[in-house]
Amino acid sequence: MAEYALSDTIYTQEQIENRAAEIAKRINEDYAGETVVFIGILRGAVMWMAQLLKSIDVDAEIDFMDVSSYGAATKSSGIVRIEKDLSYSIEGKHVIIVEDIVDSGVTLNYLKEYLLAMNPESLRICALLDKPSGRRTEIEADYVGFTVGPVFIVGYGLDVNQKYRQLPYITSVDVIE
Ligand code: IMP
Ligand code: MG
Repeated sequence: MAEYALSDTIYTQEQIENRAAEIAKRINEDYAGETVVFIGILRGAVMWMAQLLKSIDVDAEIDFMDVSSYGAATKSSGIVRIEKDLSYSIEGKHVIIVEDIVDSGVTLNYLKEYLLAMNPESLRICALLDKPSGRRTEIEADYVGFTVGPVFIVGYGLDVNQKYRQLPYITSVDVIE
């Protein structure tokens, strides 16, 4: 059984909520008068998506997808599988993918191609975190909460082996095998 050692808080609940409000304000400006479909990527993006939506005042629709690119480990397998697809059509709509973290970029790269094939009016990405040190494909989120270093993050929806998603702050974890 692996043991986990959490570090000190990296971003507090207050910092994350303030950042969500700032990003929502930008989205409100960028999509003024439009309808936006927010697609949350389960399960890591759930808290971030909920917080972001509280400050969105353009017409919003929400949907979720569940994709897995990870086994139980802390390194991406590079293989993306769709576990739950969209419930509604996004054809002709403005779409924002809401993701927890961009690490290797493999998941978002795949998702972007997949969703573009459905002919949305536009497609952007909003990620709580960006971990540029992990990147293996050329992809950037259009809206980023915070940039983090080469550590494994948990909290605010992010997990290690399904643990710590409920923490209302962001921290890093060391896995002791
Ligand atoms: P990517 O495909 O490597 O960009 O990462 C895809 C997924 O890996 C993210 O949506 C997260 O669910 C997970 N992930 C990547 N880095 C971390 C991390 O530091 N903590 C928790 N999950 C992570
Ligand atoms: Mg994820």
